[in-house]
Amino acid sequence: MSKQQDTSKLWGGRFSEATDSFVQRFTASVSFDQRMAREDIAGSLAHAEMLGAVGVLTPAELADIQRGLAQVELEISNGDFDWSVELEDVHMNIEARLTQLIGVTGKKLHTGRSRNDQVATDIRLYLRSAIDAIAAELTRLQRGAIELASRNTDTIMPGFTHLQTAQPVTFGHHLLAWNEMLERDYGRLRDCRVRLNQSPLGAAALAGTTYPIDRTLTAAALGFDRPTENSLDSVSDRDFAIEFCAFAALLMTHLSRMSEELVLWTSAQFNFIELPDRFCTGSSIMPQKKNPDVPELVRGKVGRVNGHLVSLLTLMKSQPLAYNKDNQEDKEPLFDTVDTVLDSLRAFAGMVPAIRPKAEQMREAARRGFSTATDLADYLVGKGLPFRDAHEVVGKAVAHGVANGLDLAEMELATLQEFCPDISADVFEVLTLEGSVAARDHLGGTAPQQVAAAAQRALERLLER
Ligand code: ARG
Repeated sequence: MSKQQDTSKLWGGRFSEATDSFVQRFTASVSFDQRMAREDIAGSLAHAEMLGAVGVLTPAELADIQRGLAQVELEISNGDFDWSVELEDVHMNIEARLTQLIGVTGKKLHTGRSRNDQVATDIRLYLRSAIDAIAAELTRLQRGAIELASRNTDTIMPGFTHLQTAQPVTFGHHLLAWNEMLERDYGRLRDCRVRLNQSPLGAAALAGTTYPIDRTLTAAALGFDRPTENSLDSVSDRDFAIEFCAFAALLMTHLSRMSEELVLWTSAQFNFIELPDRFCTGSSIMPQKKNPDVPELVRGKVGRVNGHLVSLLTLMKSQPLAYNKDNQEDKEPLFDTVDTVLDSLRAFAGMVPAIRPKAEQMREAARRGFSTATDLADYLVGKGLPFRDAHEVVGKAVAHGVANGLDLAEMELATLQEFCPDISADVFEVLTLEGSVAARDHLGGTAPQQVAAAAQRALERLLER
């Protein structure tokens, strides 16, 4: 390779032989970081305008840079941009094209900055938009879940512990439990955005720059709350990406739990709900099948997102200050996390409002499972029995029911009195499913009126966002 070609690299001045072609490919990031082109241009514009404001660039130079970057942006959005692996990354591709377009002034854009603060700025801007898009989808999903809950405040289903029928609950109550998980996810996402939204621009390579830059100006132009405090930390910090992936891992964990329930509920064995055909697929061999592929796939995708969190934690572990090339490895896990979370939320936000509960089947499952046994024990406590004795009495009644194929509410009063003579005819009020849920009438309980009030509060929280 001739010396001519070596110095065609934007950093080629001190090199005397060309980069090995394998090394060129190995060290390049343009194949994936071109996704941040818009953010890179926004960052460059803010930087150039600030250089203009402090007198490092003349008004004419600034105007040329603005015109050139607008042209570059157009080429990229039209798909006319020629991305080149020789130019390594999104930053140098854009800068080189700018210089082609406007001449030597293009080379002044990089005054007082480095790719290190540039890339840190780009990722923050990119992730901030992604967070806003995710927050909108999350809100859409929550709204769907809350509205479905409002329509099912008195739809009775079995509540489970150990996946065994435990006590009757309402379907609305179950959906609002989902909403609480998502509400916490939303809070974590907002927290992450707060710490993310500071501008590292101006940290330059690691130590700051000798030009009279105004970091407050660039921070404000890019919608950041303020500039970051320390230049070394600014170029090396990727905490915001880890926090985002931690948010994502927990959100996906929640979606996987909901998915698991949807898969169970659509099975012939549970038969609690129907998912609309548009969210299901068939089998190529078994004509009768309608498979819940969408929730299954979301359940499966938690694996890659958890993996990305561990990738980023491991990437940052033991890195000395300040910037290290290791950091280039932050992007692919982060981008895939964004894509996976957005797609999974889109799937759920479309699917959840379309769930059709099968109220009769749910009710029947609750009725069959001795789900009011605790209510009978509480009833006996009301008659003066210590709870442990009441528990014993009901256990015997349940054993009798199992042996004879009878639920508690189906037994004769005389039969029940054999287990405890204190039982009288009013017992049947507490043995009904409706009586059981209505009795749990306190904040956070499953009584229909509590569920309706909880759904209302949940909706109001959404509207305050
Ligand atoms: N492509 C690089 C990255 O993603 C940009 C920063 C490169 N800085 C450097 N000094 N090599 O991290």
